[in-house]
Amino acid sequence: METRSRIAVVGATGRAGRHVVDVLRERGHEVVPISRSVGVDVISGAGLEAALAGVECVIDVSSTPSPEQREATEFFTTSARNLQEAGAKAGVRRLVVASIIGIDASVAGYNAAKSAHERAVQDGPVPVRILRAAQFHEFVEELANWGLQGDVCFVPRMRTRLVAARAVAESLVDLATDPEPTAEQVGAPFPEIAGPREENLAEMAKLVLVRRGRDVRIEEVSDPADPDRDLFENGGLLPGPHARLAGPTYADWLDTRA
Ligand SMILES: NC(=O)c1ccc[n+]([C@@H]2O[C@H](COP(=O)([O-])OP(=O)(O)OC[C@H]3O[C@@H](n4cnc5c(N)ncnc54)[C@H](OP(=O)(O)O)[C@@H]3O)[C@@H](O)[C@H]2O)c1
Repeated sequence: METRSRIAVVGATGRAGRHVVDVLRERGHEVVPISRSVGVDVISGAGLEAALAGVECVIDVSSTPSPEQREATEFFTTSARNLQEAGAKAGVRRLVVASIIGIDASVAGYNAAKSAHERAVQDGPVPVRILRAAQFHEFVEELANWGLQGDVCFVPRMRTRLVAARAVAESLVDLATDPEPTAEQVGAPFPEIAGPREENLAEMAKLVLVRRGRDVRIEEVSDPADPDRDLFENGGLLPGPHARLAGPTYADWLDTRA
C-alpha cells in the first residue's frame, strides 16, 4: 500500500488528465485538480499558488489546442516557468511531465514546442521527471475529424504505436510516487510508454469513422514541406527498447467504448 500523498494534476479534465485523477484516487491519494474550468490557470497564474498549498507532487498533463509552434511554445514555456516558481514556493518535491516519444528530433509545429517544454521545465529548482508517450488512442478520432473534408478524410502518414491514455496515466502516477531515482537511473534515457503494436494511423482513423457511421475514403497525407516528415514516416516517433509497452490495442480499446 502506497502512502497517501497530496498530488496536483494540471490538465485534470483532459484526455490523459481524467485518467491520472482516476488512478491517483484508486491508489488512495488526495487529488488537487487544476484546469481553467476549476478556476486555476497555469498561464496567467490565477489561483495557482493557492492550489499548490500542501501539494507534494505535481503531474502536468495540460496542453494547448494550438498546433502552431510559436503559440504552443509560448504556452508550454510559460506553464513550465509558472509551475516551477509556484511549485518551489509551495515546497513541491517533484514535477512529473507528460511528453512525446521522439520529439527531441522535431523542428516544427506542436512537437517542437513540446521539445522546448522539456527543456524549459527542467530549468528550475523543483526536480522533474519526464515521461514520453506515444500518440493516445483517444487522439485518433480528433485527428480524423480534423481531416474530414466531405467524403474524404486526410490523415498524416505516421508510424506510431498508439497507447491508451489510461496506461499513460498509470506510468505517470508511478513516476509521481516511486522513490527517488537510484544512481544508475540518473542520466538514463527518459522513460517511454507505448502501445502493444505498431499501427497504421490511416487504418485506425478508418476504423473509428466506420464505427461512427461515416462512410469516407481515407487519404494519407505526406507533406514534403514539413521538415518533420521523415520523423513521422520513418519511425522517429516509435519507442526505444527501454519503453514500457501496454495494451489494449486500438481495436480492442475501441470495442470497449462502443
Ligand atoms: N494527445 C496525445 O496523443 C499525446 C501523446 C503523447 C503526449 N501527450 C502529451 O500529454 C499531455 C496531455 O495531452 P492531452 O491530449 O491529454 O491534453 P488535452 O486533452 O488537450 O487536455 C488539456 C488539459 O489542459 C487544461 N488546460 C489548458 N489550458 C490550461 C491553462 N491555461 N491552465 C490550466 N489548465 C489548462 C485543459 O483544461 P481547461 O481547458 O479546462 O483549462 C485540459 O484539462 C500534453 O502535454 C501532450 O503533449 C499527448
